[in-house]
Amino acid sequence: MGEKRTVLRTKVGIVGGGPAGLMLSHLLGQAGIESIVVEKRDHETIRTTHRAGILEHGSVRMLTEGGVSDRVLRDGYRHDGIDLRFGGESHRVDFQELVGESVWLYPQNEVFVDLAAARERDGGDVRYAVTDTEVLDQATDRPKIRFTDDQGADYEVHCDILVGADGSQGICRRSIPADVRNDHFIEYPFAWFGILTEAPPSAPELIYANSDHGFALISQRSDTVQRMYFQSDPNENPDDWSEDRIWDELQRRVDGPDGFELKRGPIFDKTVLKFRSYVCEPMRYGNMFLAGDAGHTVPPTGAKGLNLALADVSVLFQAIESFYASGSRDLLDGYSDKALQRVWRAQNFSYWMTSMLHTRPDASAFERRRALGELSGVVASRHGQAYLAEAYTGWPHA
Ligand code: DHB
Repeated sequence: MGEKRTVLRTKVGIVGGGPAGLMLSHLLGQAGIESIVVEKRDHETIRTTHRAGILEHGSVRMLTEGGVSDRVLRDGYRHDGIDLRFGGESHRVDFQELVGESVWLYPQNEVFVDLAAARERDGGDVRYAVTDTEVLDQATDRPKIRFTDDQGADYEVHCDILVGADGSQGICRRSIPADVRNDHFIEYPFAWFGILTEAPPSAPELIYANSDHGFALISQRSDTVQRMYFQSDPNENPDDWSEDRIWDELQRRVDGPDGFELKRGPIFDKTVLKFRSYVCEPMRYGNMFLAGDAGHTVPPTGAKGLNLALADVSVLFQAIESFYASGSRDLLDGYSDKALQRVWRAQNFSYWMTSMLHTRPDASAFERRRALGELSGVVASRHGQAYLAEAYTGWPHA
């Protein structure tokens, strides 16, 4: 192939058909602005990739009020607080009482399913399983995407605005010349070992546990499937972990005088998730704008990744809409600064939750005691708890 290249003309060309790309395409579609989304994975691969499961109220509103789906309200679970557990005792942070907001337990896979169905319902142009994707002429007013579709046909998309919503491993960010891109990056000396288990919930809400044996998170998926994580070495091999060994490790991280016991069941998925913090500054190059993980990565503690992606999309959509309504580029020019404000707040929150709840392998006794001092200071203070509740449930969208 490669001889005949079909040119497609659209307003907004979007690389990446995860939640960020699809949500943007959906909002644009509703505003009568056409877009084309290209995605290298197939629908089934995205649908079955396990990601985090907590939606801020602002994310829920984007799905429901935006006409994507109200399934989150029916099949999701509203959570009005979390437990911080340390020294073997649980301390509830009551979101409703502190800030009058909640979060929803609704896995990212379901968000993708809803968005993909809404795009299909509304006649959106989304091309999955494309290969050889390239972005060109980003710094001009006619940026382009080249790709080969799942039938082997070659295309070139000509657009006014190009959006990189292609995740942390994507091509868009990497296409920005190094001399105009600031990469802010840190790595952590630990990871999460995540499991899915067929068992009833062990507790009504999520438990974030700091223990002498390291961090554990007791999360959920449904009445019959639970999601749990424990801090591990980044190079841990899941095959070395039998079900009994995993359950014993999780249990000792939540043990306490209250006798709290995890409800065990068969484990049907095991994965190790690496921890990174990354920001690409600015989140723009010419007429290419980055959204979601393409522009930034947060460590998972606090579940900000998807929520941050949707918040980017909300700001970017307004900027694109304003450009087509008025011809003014002011909001597009302001996109990166505006998005980055929330990004850096979320970076701090994710870093803070991570450092307060985990134990670095080389941590001194001082560092260990300091983190417990931090946790007890937070739960003893209404203001400390309220900051956590505000950040966790989500700052208002711009
Ligand atoms: C989940 C993941 C998170 O990172 C978090 O903070 C809470 C929940 C989850 O996958 O359920």
